Amino acid sequence: MKPTLRFVAAWLAALLVLVAFAWLAVTHTTRTWFEKDVALRAELAVSGARRALIGGLETRDTHGLQELLTDIVRDERILAASLCNTDNRPIVATPDFPRTLGCAEIGPHLHEDDALDASAWTSWRKFTELPGGDVHVSASPLIGGDHVYGFVVLVHDLSFAARREASTQRFLLITFLTLAVLAAIVTLISVRLLWRNWGEALRRMASGDDDNRRPEFIPLLKDMRSLLNRLAQEENAEQHGGIWSPQRLKLTLQRHLHGERLIAVANREPYIHNYNADGSIRVLHPASGLVSALEPVMRACSGVWIGHGAGSADRETVDARDHVRVPPGEESYVIRRLWLSKEEEQGYYYGFANEGLWPLCHVAHARPTFRIDDWRHYQAVNRKFADAVCDEADSDDPVILVQDYHFALVPKMLRERLPRATILTFWHIPWPNPEQISICPWHTELIEGLLGSSILGFHTQFHCNNFLDAADRFLESRIDREDFAVIQHQRRTLVRAYPISVEWPNHWVDATPPAAECRAAVFADLKLPADGRLGVGVDRLDYTKGIEERFGAIERLLEREPHWIGKFTFLQIASPSRTLIERYAQLNRDVEKLVTRINGRFATADWQPIVLRTLHTEPPDVFRLYRAADVCYVSSLHDGMNLVAKEFLAARDDEQGVLVLSKFTGAARELAEALIVNPYDLEEASAALALALRMPPEEQRARVRAMRQQISEMNVYRWAGRMLLDASRLRAREQMAGLLAAHRQSA
Ligand code: G6P
Repeated sequence: MKPTLRFVAAWLAALLVLVAFAWLAVTHTTRTWFEKDVALRAELAVSGARRALIGGLETRDTHGLQELLTDIVRDERILAASLCNTDNRPIVATPDFPRTLGCAEIGPHLHEDDALDASAWTSWRKFTELPGGDVHVSASPLIGGDHVYGFVVLVHDLSFAARREASTQRFLLITFLTLAVLAAIVTLISVRLLWRNWGEALRRMASGDDDNRRPEFIPLLKDMRSLLNRLAQEENAEQHGGIWSPQRLKLTLQRHLHGERLIAVANREPYIHNYNADGSIRVLHPASGLVSALEPVMRACSGVWIGHGAGSADRETVDARDHVRVPPGEESYVIRRLWLSKEEEQGYYYGFANEGLWPLCHVAHARPTFRIDDWRHYQAVNRKFADAVCDEADSDDPVILVQDYHFALVPKMLRERLPRATILTFWHIPWPNPEQISICPWHTELIEGLLGSSILGFHTQFHCNNFLDAADRFLESRIDREDFAVIQHQRRTLVRAYPISVEWPNHWVDATPPAAECRAAVFADLKLPADGRLGVGVDRLDYTKGIEERFGAIERLLEREPHWIGKFTFLQIASPSRTLIERYAQLNRDVEKLVTRINGRFATADWQPIVLRTLHTEPPDVFRLYRAADVCYVSSLHDGMNLVAKEFLAARDDEQGVLVLSKFTGAARELAEALIVNPYDLEEASAALALALRMPPEEQRARVRAMRQQISEMNVYRWAGRMLLDASRLRAREQMAGLLAAHRQSA
């Protein structure tokens, strides 16, 4: 039982005992008072009628005596009267006098010698209760001078006493209850004042302003101090300690979250097993910013990645629990594959996620489509992934990373089943303003789902603000704008910006040949002249990437500076993506048409300005291209971050190359030394390409060096580490609030 409840129970018990005791005392006292009062009245009535009664007896006037007794019983509280002689025999009685009540039962039974002795009668009185309680009988002697005439018996009605007792008891009860309520209020106010005093004293002691330590605070202070130390350590942990590395991230997880393994939920799996035409199996690394960022984190921390098993040989390569250990050859974590039916994949992935949320969140002029069936599949698949997380969790407070717009409902589903879990959700794409998000018929469900998270991360503060505005507008919640948090159902979700990044040092780069070698190989492959220039673009074939605008800028460059004809080649790697969606199929057709037109306009016998490779390209080949290029152009029309820009810089340990970067990417906020352009503005973009091609090596070096420095410091381990540290701080704060609440209850 809680201390407060114990106190209240004890208080009520004491009150009950007190009321019972007072009840008995009052009943006894009032009854005695009433009896005394009645006895006195009987005495008065007899003495008032004494003379007349003696006269009647002496003249033997039975009729007169009868009338005298009738007069006495006119008193409403006297029911009947009788006159008895000294031999205890009745002389006369009122008609109502009970027959069962004889003079003999009441009389004094004196010795024959004393029967007429007045002194023997003087001290005799009788006052007794008849069975039933409300009727009493009194007997008083009738004495005249030295002569005793007999005694008068009166029957009294005491029911009025019972009525008075009842009202006295009622009054008593009301008085006690009022007193109890008043006492409770006074106690509560005193406790509050006391708590405030304690709080004040605690604050002073915690801040070191007070040296008079009160002994009752010592255990609480110890707990608070250790929590505060932890908070301070975590505050420092992010800033100090040098470059973030896989080891440091793992240590952070162990030290601050007592976690040995992470559970990541992300639709796209990091390793896909596909069948080759000859029946052998190959491993594919998907083109996905999410995968590029999260995979090194999982390699560093170990744990399980729950993803959609989409590869043709995926089922072939898992064990009985649908697990496969990765990376192949250097296993450090596990992929748990979930299988989706064609309908589920169509509704959840192609439909709701990629025809609904993807265009909704990107300002890229593709109309979102929302269908009820897609929404139902989205809900069901989110439930399926949440079930898998619970199945994989080996404690009641696991650390779970929920990734991206495929799983907006998962955090809430998990919170309901694992209330103590640390749920870190990261939304890898932009979050639009409230008007725009409200286009989705189920926008409140999405926001509520995300608020199951301990921390909800976006790439930029702008997207955080959009989310806070939406929560404020569409939900019953409190927004703490100072702490960037949403409070709902007394739970706090931190909404913070964590710009995502790439691994540093990068394991693909380490395995890539030096820049000169890469350049020679790529130039040979493309049959470019040694003094030629190469630009690259590496994207999924997606309408948000601005590929058509990119080619438009190249066309404009060749118009403005025709001396690049025959010399400048742009190689576009376009990984086929979401090909079952018509908008993507249309994009594919449009891009091919555009390339044919531009190439048709400028191509020479042995040269064409744009080389389009619409095929999946594995990371080693991509990194070779980055190293071989003079320019990398990232022209996204809207992009949460864009990791191609950062990977290009990670690849350039020769500190050469120029990055031309759309201002509509999250990366543009960090990579200030890139040539930042508006991709829609073909004049500006083509001028930037021209500038890039002319840029002296020293300037390239200075810019690349500054940006590489930035990425090395803000690498993906720091991205994950910051979230883990914030989560740990949140846990410590919640523990501190719990401690204070517990202490307040016990006070
Ligand atoms: C974006 C999304 C990722 C997704 C990637 C590739 O970067 O934020 O969640 O994995 O695109 O798209 P896909 O649909 O092939 O997974």
